[in-house]
Amino acid sequence: MEQYVIKGGNPLVGEVEIGGAKNAALAILAAGIMTDDTVVIENIPDVKDINVLIQAIEGIGAKVDRRDRHTVAINGANIDALNVDNEYIKKIRASYYLLGALLGKYKKASVPLPGGCNIGSRPIDQHLKGFRALGADVKIEHGYVIAEAKSLKGSHIYLDVVTVGATINIMMAASLAQGNTIIENAAKEPHVVDAANFLNSMGANIKGAGTDVIRIKGVQSLHRTEYSIIPDQIEAGTFMFAAAATKGDVTVKNVIPKHLEATTAKLIEIGCEVEEFDDAVRVVSSKGLHHTHVKTLPYPGFPTDMQPQIAVALALSSGTSIVTESIFENRFKYVDELARMGANIKVEGNTAIINGVERFTGAHVNAPDLRAGAALVIAGLAAEGITVVDDVHYVERGYECFEEKLKSLGAQMEKVSGEKEIQKFRLKIG
Ligand code: UD1
Repeated sequence: MEQYVIKGGNPLVGEVEIGGAKNAALAILAAGIMTDDTVVIENIPDVKDINVLIQAIEGIGAKVDRRDRHTVAINGANIDALNVDNEYIKKIRASYYLLGALLGKYKKASVPLPGGCNIGSRPIDQHLKGFRALGADVKIEHGYVIAEAKSLKGSHIYLDVVTVGATINIMMAASLAQGNTIIENAAKEPHVVDAANFLNSMGANIKGAGTDVIRIKGVQSLHRTEYSIIPDQIEAGTFMFAAAATKGDVTVKNVIPKHLEATTAKLIEIGCEVEEFDDAVRVVSSKGLHHTHVKTLPYPGFPTDMQPQIAVALALSSGTSIVTESIFENRFKYVDELARMGANIKVEGNTAIINGVERFTGAHVNAPDLRAGAALVIAGLAAEGITVVDDVHYVERGYECFEEKLKSLGAQMEKVSGEKEIQKFRLKIG
């Protein structure tokens, strides 16, 4: 098992470059198979979830050429398996995007029900409702979602919950439907806009992405494009909270500050200084942090994917903070781990009541999922002494070179495997 061993207590200081947005890239890679032309996608993060999806896309017969670490060319002309059966698909949540992409292009798709981080029940009923509204016959059999239509017809779809995945999936299928589709109560996340921009660059006709009403005029076919993915707002926010929790001074570069507004606002509320530049944000945490309340909400609200990271900072802030999770019900699994480091947090339903403590002390903890894993690393960096975080494969699903980037900011940490290597690190660090 791969682990991080961390000697905490140093403020993080310096500059860090943010990569492309994982969640945008997942949608865009899947959409890349919707034409028979070759599409070139740049600024793809080199993280496990992305690499698994790329393998899955290759597994269904698309030609994928990794031109460099962050650039991929995809040609979906020879997709031979509409019945997507490969081991990679089940591993990641975002394989559901192959449903919308294949249904739009071939009017038929059969994809295993997706896996992904265990952060609560993750239904896909809204995706299926959207496909049905477009005229597809959709059923679930033997663990597969099977969707089929003679032809897809534009429709008026009102989403019952704001969902990123369903919004993008319906957008993909509707791009190649006959006539007009309107998605109401659509998600407004930056990656919805990025996916729409990508599809438009392939010849789709999507208007209104980034608002809660998206209008799609179906087109006959899509064509070649070259496209660069937006920066990852969650990776950026993670480093911003790492700066806050370690009393550091970090400039995150290659970001769109507008996408970070909810994070920035909370950092200012708890006592950090935040300076915005055109494509960078600097976070300075020089005074003590103080409490606040935060509730996760769809964009432009505070992102659920930043909830564990802010909770770590609040657990080190004076006073009582309240964190309410309104998107996923099972997202407080890291709280017991943080308690081992000295945090004082009580969870009641979807609310965590955090009584700030002066300091954490290093402990052996377990990453329960991707973002919680990143948050535990932040906690370890802020703690006195040595912290070991187990199961860091979760963190690698979504962060490229996490430990290298943190080390470039002064973190003392290594990726290790087993007690011997942990001891070696202890001896080295002194
Ligand atoms: C995506 C992100 C994830 C992020 C989440 C919210 C990817 C691969 N993952 O996940 O990192 O935490 O957005 O920003 O992009 N829901 C339904 N029915 C559905 C679909 C969703 O009830 O058919 C509910 C979910 O249970 C959840 C809420 O809607 O409570 C939001 O889910 P959604 O935005 O779809 O999240 P994901 O696409 O799974």
